[in-house]
Amino acid sequence: MTAERKPTKERPKPLLRVDGLSKTYSKRVGLLARQEIHHAVWGVSFDIPAGRTVALVGESGCGKSTLGRLLVRLIEPTYGRIFVSGRDVTSMNDAEFRPYRRRLQIVFQDPETSLNPRLTVRSIVSEGAVAFGLASGSALEDLLVAELSAVGLSADALDKYPDQFSGGQRQRIALARAMILKPEFVVCDEIVSALDASVQAQILNLLLDRQESTNVSYLLITHDLAVAEQVSRTLLVMFAGRIVEMGRTAEIAENPRHPYTQELFLASPKLGAEPPKLSSTKLQALAVASSGCAFRLRCPMAEPGVCDGEAPTLRSISAESSQRVACFKAT
Ligand SMILES: Nc1ncnc2c1ncn2[C@@H]1O[C@H](COP(=O)(O)OP(=O)(O)OP(=O)(O)O)[C@@H](O)[C@H]1O
Ligand code: SF4
Ligand SMILES: [Mg+2]
Repeated sequence: MTAERKPTKERPKPLLRVDGLSKTYSKRVGLLARQEIHHAVWGVSFDIPAGRTVALVGESGCGKSTLGRLLVRLIEPTYGRIFVSGRDVTSMNDAEFRPYRRRLQIVFQDPETSLNPRLTVRSIVSEGAVAFGLASGSALEDLLVAELSAVGLSADALDKYPDQFSGGQRQRIALARAMILKPEFVVCDEIVSALDASVQAQILNLLLDRQESTNVSYLLITHDLAVAEQVSRTLLVMFAGRIVEMGRTAEIAENPRHPYTQELFLASPKLGAEPPKLSSTKLQALAVASSGCAFRLRCPMAEPGVCDGEAPTLRSISAESSQRVACFKAT
């Protein structure tokens, strides 16, 4: 597998722009069922140019899937805006947004639950194409065969059911269902996580091939930094609902600046580094500070009086670096 295949010097216009996106949930806690606001995603801003792949990494529960669902409007933001080709899609009503439902797609990790076991592959893959009136009759049949072939499946698959396929094949079917709609942007939420390495590589190559032929953009959600490094040009690192570091993937991999990103890269066995020895403070693994920097209860660099006041916001590291870091002390 190769790195993203189309590096260009000029930065293309953003296909997708996200500005201050937030999603909060209220939950009842304690014996008195006190209501507490939980910021699943908080103040997230970034953009994704056409034809590019941005990877989103972070530990379980940090808000990755919530962000992915927000981007395709499966759920509505509490605050913030999403622009597609410069148009604010967050303020659109259902009728105005309908064409964007086709243009913005999401593929989930688990085809077991996302593919209806009672439907044939033909019904599953053609559903959206029929709903959006993309094709019918023999043109639809040709389209189905072409889409299956593009994901490496033969026409025989059309009359079979999802449980007649392996995990990797089911993920191809899920991809075909999204790609038949000719989307401009696809959220891929941990779509290769459950697959073994060789099948992972095949699926990632399919994504890259499709990007080369259609200029589709991806937000690739993954907990695997090696996958992020292989396919993305830009990396977003999320902790407790916020982006804590962003920039060129290669630059961050070479020199992660945020203490949390450093922890992630050290803990990534695939990069060949020794796993870090966790201090007892770090073993409170899921602890998140509710004031100041959310990472401070786990941070080896935390400093009283510096990190416990305001929450740090993203800032550029230097004019030469693409990296932006939400940390008072990162250099
Ligand atoms: N519908 C909901 N109601 C209440 N809380 C929610 C809801 N959806 C998500 N959350 C909470 O928001 C936080 C972020 O969840 P999310 O699923 O986005 O995390 P994630 O980074 O995708 O995790 P994973 O890597 O395990 O998939 C979690 O604390 C989760 O419990
Ligand atoms: S702001 Fe302070 S606590 Fe937060 S990551 Fe930076 S050094 Fe650590
Ligand atoms: Mg998730």
